[in-house]
Amino acid sequence: MKICVVGTGYVGLVAGTCFAESGNDVTCVDNVVAKIDALRQGIVPIYEPGLEELIRRNVAEGRLTFSTDLGDAVKKSEVCFIAVGTPERDDGSADLSAVLSVARGVAQAMDGYRVVVTKSTVPVGTHRKIREAMGPVTSQPFDVVSNPEFMKEGAAIEDFLKPDRVVIGAASPEAFRTMRELYEPFCRTGAPILEMDNASAEMTKYAANALLATKISFMNEIANLCERVGADVEHVRRGAGYDRRIGHHFLFPGVGYGGSCFPKDVQAIVHTAKENKLDFPVLSAVEAVNDAQKRRLVEKVVAEFGDSLRGKRFAVWGLAFKPRTDDMREAPSIVVVNGLLERGAEVAVHDPEALTNAKRVFGDRVSYHRVNYEALAGADALLVVTEWNEFRRPDFARMRQLMKRPVIFDGRNVYDPEVMREHGFSYFPIGRAAVRGR
Ligand SMILES: NC(=O)c1ccc[n+]([C@@H]2O[C@H](COP(=O)([O-])OP(=O)(O)OC[C@H]3O[C@@H](n4cnc5c(N)ncnc54)[C@H](O)[C@@H]3O)[C@@H](O)[C@H]2O)c1
Repeated sequence: MKICVVGTGYVGLVAGTCFAESGNDVTCVDNVVAKIDALRQGIVPIYEPGLEELIRRNVAEGRLTFSTDLGDAVKKSEVCFIAVGTPERDDGSADLSAVLSVARGVAQAMDGYRVVVTKSTVPVGTHRKIREAMGPVTSQPFDVVSNPEFMKEGAAIEDFLKPDRVVIGAASPEAFRTMRELYEPFCRTGAPILEMDNASAEMTKYAANALLATKISFMNEIANLCERVGADVEHVRRGAGYDRRIGHHFLFPGVGYGGSCFPKDVQAIVHTAKENKLDFPVLSAVEAVNDAQKRRLVEKVVAEFGDSLRGKRFAVWGLAFKPRTDDMREAPSIVVVNGLLERGAEVAVHDPEALTNAKRVFGDRVSYHRVNYEALAGADALLVVTEWNEFRRPDFARMRQLMKRPVIFDGRNVYDPEVMREHGFSYFPIGRAAVRGR
């Protein structure tokens, strides 16, 4: 099939590349010329494991091209995916201006029937707005499909090629048939393709993200309570997670959720509820708990070092909002690092992939280190904020030598308190007892 994917960000670039991988002819479109120029030269603007190799192969085999010319891409395509951003506005609602502008652009260029697919996360009812935006601009027939994306950054290729399920919201048999044809190659091992109306498909994405965010905030509250009552959240998490009705995923306490999706999607669904004269108290609480949790690690630092951190130096390992991505949008590390800087601390940061994006956030207010150990030199403490695998088994003896004081604030519970004790660290995890070092 010939398709175009508009928006070459984390979602569009992965989706376009994976559709090319299954044999389709794909044009990836973006309105940022520099991005398309870079992609044409083989430079991938984001870090996503496995993506670069897949792009290279599909470009070399002629199935994947990049363009800034939306009209041309639409003319060549039977299906047009919209995968542009839907950032939050000040009032929490999703900003649909890019989605609707692309929809109008698609309509202007159409020279026959097209299937127009929203892959961006959009509030319920957006399919109607897309139809209304396109209708006056074209006399050609079209179907609007709502096809939310569930990929996780850091494992996006795997998620796309082997989805848990595919959700398709549409109103015509032809649109369903086209979408099934596109997705069947990814569903050979039995993942269901769920067909439903557009509104339900749009809602499904928000329900899934909101539920996942709820699990995280819930577990963070349990962790905070564990600290007060002397329980260990790591035991509690396992004990609860083995219940098959609950499961182990997303029960890890930490420094709160971040990223480009959960924070804005939780706000957007609360906003949709308000527009429909409903409160959504659960999700309002999820958000408030998450905001507070992002401050927990610095609160622990303050409890140990006092409110003024002037003259103190802190190393921070992990800046991306989660491991295996370079994405720093809404990352808890921003709140953590700013919390340290506001109190006068010196901060040395390390992340395996996110340093370039971090420089845009922190400028020259922190020092940047390509090697994790280098950030530790002279540090009064280390804060672990993102649980990259390479942080899990460090050389503790070497760390002790480099640091001024052997103190670790572990925002992701990656270390074993017993090992910390053996190495003489003072250790402050989330939701479990602290260890006092020698
Ligand atoms: N990032 C994720 O893990 C994820 C997962 C599922 C769903 N989503 C949703 O998918 C959508 C895209 O997310 P993302 O993370 O890929 O965003 P992104 O910001 O990484 O990418 C968006 C891209 O769209 C381009 N763009 C914006 N306006 C354009 C226009 N008018 N014409 C052409 N290109 C335009 C931008 O230049 C950018 O390259 C959002 O709605 C998001 O909520 C994201």
